[in-house]
Amino acid sequence: MSRIAYVNGRYLPHREASVHIDDRGYQFADGVYEVIAIEHGRLVDERLHLRRLGRSLAELEIAEPMPEASLKTIMREVIRRNRVRDGIIYIQMTRGVAPRDHAFPRYARTQVVMTARRSKLANPKILAEGAPVITLPDLRWARCDIKSIALLPNILGKQQAREAGAYEAWQVDSDGNVTEGTSTNAWIVTAAGEVVTRAATHAILNGVTRLGVIRVIEQAGLKFVERPFSVAEAKRAREAFLTSTTAYVTPVVRIDDSVVGNGKPGPLARELGAFYRRYVEAGGQDA
Ligand code: PDD
Repeated sequence: MSRIAYVNGRYLPHREASVHIDDRGYQFADGVYEVIAIEHGRLVDERLHLRRLGRSLAELEIAEPMPEASLKTIMREVIRRNRVRDGIIYIQMTRGVAPRDHAFPRYARTQVVMTARRSKLANPKILAEGAPVITLPDLRWARCDIKSIALLPNILGKQQAREAGAYEAWQVDSDGNVTEGTSTNAWIVTAAGEVVTRAATHAILNGVTRLGVIRVIEQAGLKFVERPFSVAEAKRAREAFLTSTTAYVTPVVRIDDSVVGNGKPGPLARELGAFYRRYVEAGGQDA
């Protein structure tokens, strides 16, 4: 089956879909994106993703390209044309096409690209065995709360993880505290049974999965604390895990050369994973 991409008002075969070489996304990474999971044909926490997309655009003063209702119609059409029941939709918006100049162009039309593909969310083997992570310095800018397409430190970090045989790289700030993974949020469970993740400041992306898991933790009556934690504390933690749209709740079993807990996925991480699945099946926060 040939894949279809949406590009600025047109539905095109994937291999013919392209953008202008003066697209500011191509030249400056001047744009934002979202990745939303599709489960049983339904978008997972669409409202939270679209709210974050609107926020990212507003923070960068990129114009909303269309009303939300139109965006939702196109998203559903992209999913339908690609016959995705379980997978992801990718939405990218850039400031526009204009002769290269760092300052914003006077006239620019926000460029919109969408693709959707089938995929298995949350690799079952990694869910069952847990994921190794490495740590490395956080080289990113001071506005990681914006879901910008500028991802160089993230891709370099993920590549380093890949080469080390790890699943993810946890980025570490100048105080020695973990900010987040290159494409996931980072969590630990303390000896006291507290579930800890960093507060959603400018230092991290406020993951939609993070918000879903916080909701699930509150519903389950577990102890939840938003605060920074150091690499040393994470290595000593009872459990660790990471979250994202595509990783769901993935247990972390090794940090650098240190085994977390007994080296197997922790019970709380597994339980939260199961609760989160139920939350998704019940329609998440769109329910
Ligand atoms: N990444 N932190 C970063 C830096 C991310 O890029 C992501 C998402 C997350 C988790 O956010 P969410 O739960 O909303 O997916 C945290 C997406 C999946 C990506 O870049 O492919």
